[in-house]
Amino acid sequence: MMSIRYIEESRTFKIDTNHATYMISVVDEEGFVGEVYYGPRVSDTDLNYLLRTKENPFVPSKNERDRLSFYDSFSWEYPTAGIGDYRNSAFEIRTEGGYGACLLVFEDYEIISGKRPLTGLPATFGTEDAEAATLEITCREPDLGFHVVLSYSIFEDSDAIVKSVRVVNDGRETIYLEKVLSAVLNFENITPMDVITLHGSWARERHIYRREIPYGRTSTSSVRGESGHQDHPFMAVLSRDADEDHGDVYGMSFVYSGNFIAQTERNQFDTIRAQMGINPEGFCWRLKPGEAFEAPEVVIVYSSEGIGGMSRTFHDVYRNHLIRGEYKDKKRPILINNWEATYFNFNTEKLLDIARVAAGCGIEMLVMDDGWFGTRSSDNCALGDWVVNEEKLPGGLKYLVDEVNKLGLKFGIWFEPEMISPDSDLYRAHPDWAIQIPYRKPGLSRNQLVLDISRKEVRDYVYESVSRVLRSANIEYVKWDMNRQLADMGSPALEPDCQGELFHRYVLGLYELQERLITEFPHLLLENCSGGGARFDPGMLYYSPQIWCSDDTDAVERLMIQQGTALIYPLSTMGAHVSVCPNHSVGRSTPFETRGYVALSGTFGYELDITKLSDEELRQIKEQTAMYHKYNDLIRRGDYYLIASYLENKEYNCTSVVAKDQSEALVTFVRVMGRPNYHSQRIKLKGLDPKKLYRMEGTEQVLSGGALMYAGINIEGLWGDFNGRLLHLVEEK
Ligand code: GLA
Repeated sequence: MMSIRYIEESRTFKIDTNHATYMISVVDEEGFVGEVYYGPRVSDTDLNYLLRTKENPFVPSKNERDRLSFYDSFSWEYPTAGIGDYRNSAFEIRTEGGYGACLLVFEDYEIISGKRPLTGLPATFGTEDAEAATLEITCREPDLGFHVVLSYSIFEDSDAIVKSVRVVNDGRETIYLEKVLSAVLNFENITPMDVITLHGSWARERHIYRREIPYGRTSTSSVRGESGHQDHPFMAVLSRDADEDHGDVYGMSFVYSGNFIAQTERNQFDTIRAQMGINPEGFCWRLKPGEAFEAPEVVIVYSSEGIGGMSRTFHDVYRNHLIRGEYKDKKRPILINNWEATYFNFNTEKLLDIARVAAGCGIEMLVMDDGWFGTRSSDNCALGDWVVNEEKLPGGLKYLVDEVNKLGLKFGIWFEPEMISPDSDLYRAHPDWAIQIPYRKPGLSRNQLVLDISRKEVRDYVYESVSRVLRSANIEYVKWDMNRQLADMGSPALEPDCQGELFHRYVLGLYELQERLITEFPHLLLENCSGGGARFDPGMLYYSPQIWCSDDTDAVERLMIQQGTALIYPLSTMGAHVSVCPNHSVGRSTPFETRGYVALSGTFGYELDITKLSDEELRQIKEQTAMYHKYNDLIRRGDYYLIASYLENKEYNCTSVVAKDQSEALVTFVRVMGRPNYHSQRIKLKGLDPKKLYRMEGTEQVLSGGALMYAGINIEGLWGDFNGRLLHLVEEK
């Protein structure tokens, strides 16, 4: 049973989830707020000895002389800059006079059932099945008068704790917020720890990187205006001996889609401070008296069952408490996208040819990608002109969509709503709508500029031009793309001392646009995308239940990309398609079968010219689409286990999904590199019920869950590179 309590005697807030406890105490007469404990669930209500407060010579009320020593060693729940805590701060302001120091001390608290939404921001929520409870601790700046609300929410069915921060200026003067991070964790005086972060680039997003936390400060961050291919708004701090299945792991995942920072600092006392929030670089928010600022939330997961335990908790909390809408828990239509099939070179006839063959293979939706609007025949022009090109699509969109529907397929469409090409009617009419600085010619990327969607009139234009298209035909899916990162940040709509708000206002504008879209079109399946997987983050999952994982569709690269993605995100969110070989990103040729197995671990679809495939390949597509229908409920809803990682062993990869009731499991094995004179590969399954009996589908073999997990099975007969196998285990009653 979860609970949140305040214990008067110890001045302690105790947050209990099913398996974890988080304790915060108010210390000293002045009311300093510190983190006392976070780990496996304990029954105690007073662990203040850990803060060394009773006899502590450092507590200011007993030792004013060494006030700064206290500040610099206390486990602050929310550390502020400029007062003598020399570690990384989470909160930094500037007054109108230009001064920076501030302190936050306890004032009040409230425990409520449920969870308040965040204004204009994505946020986790309680449900009827699993309600939320929230603690709000109010801290005040004694001299400047404003206050900060630290908020903590938990859910009945989860071990996650959600932290966020709200700054309310009820003081007399304007303050400038220079840093408002959302969550801090303290790891006190313990053995060294490791950190895991995700890194990569276009076509190789979210590769896992683990190392020991060094002395000093380190960070993983983005100043790109989006979360980015390169770094990821996630960090796990873990004990050095933690592995996939054992040990203490603390995961922090930021529900935000713009600039972020995830920091660690190991200090003189071997204390580690880990924190996360909006990147202070390029950020400054003016807060006048009477105004409030809300920082996005961080979902924090403690797992005593290693990295895998953390992942499964994130998967459940995002599936149950973040993703919304009709497709939250629904099988998605198997789609075929024409991007890798045709790039810009298509017309109605070509698309209908694709749809015709696709319909015969069990594919359920045609998605028309980039190139259908304005004069767009390459990536050099027309972004912003969301008007159908009738030369390419004679008869217009309605005709095409109706014809596709007649073939029994749904229809989906691509947009890149946040962008503007200098060669576009939109730019010719509104050159000032592009983000830019008056004294500088803005730099191009993919020959395009970014629309200033912090401005209402720009958002209204974008919304109207996109929704007009959606209203014109039976369009059931939208791929919302974003193909360049932000630079030259400037907006004429903002006052000079508010230019530092633009990055965040851009993200708020994006959220508002997508909220409008899913409100007007509640049945629409929205898939976010950003040059592949540059905006695969929890913020976007609040608006779209799936996100395109990467432009790299090669089966081997995908093993690593999808493993990194599955560290946090459920398989149901990962856009994954089968494409042709040699693969367009890496030039590798892998068996069609293996490509299917790897894509089945995501949303599943195709990204190829189906009219050019052999009969054998078409036969395999029919098999794969049937497999999708057979296994997708399990893949979408089950528990994910990483059994062997190609990223680590450089030879083979194995993952599985186990039904919540442990009645079946699907194992995906890929031998990436063939190994001569090696009869078989032993793998030990995970997550089964040791007492249950399971039949290996298609064979007579029946084994106990215990045998499958502790003794394992042999995968035999995979000859050559890149071959895979799918094993389905079903409980034998
Ligand atoms: C991005 C997307 C691709 C495709 C192209 C179109 O790169 O990730 O899937 O839509 O844009 O320009």
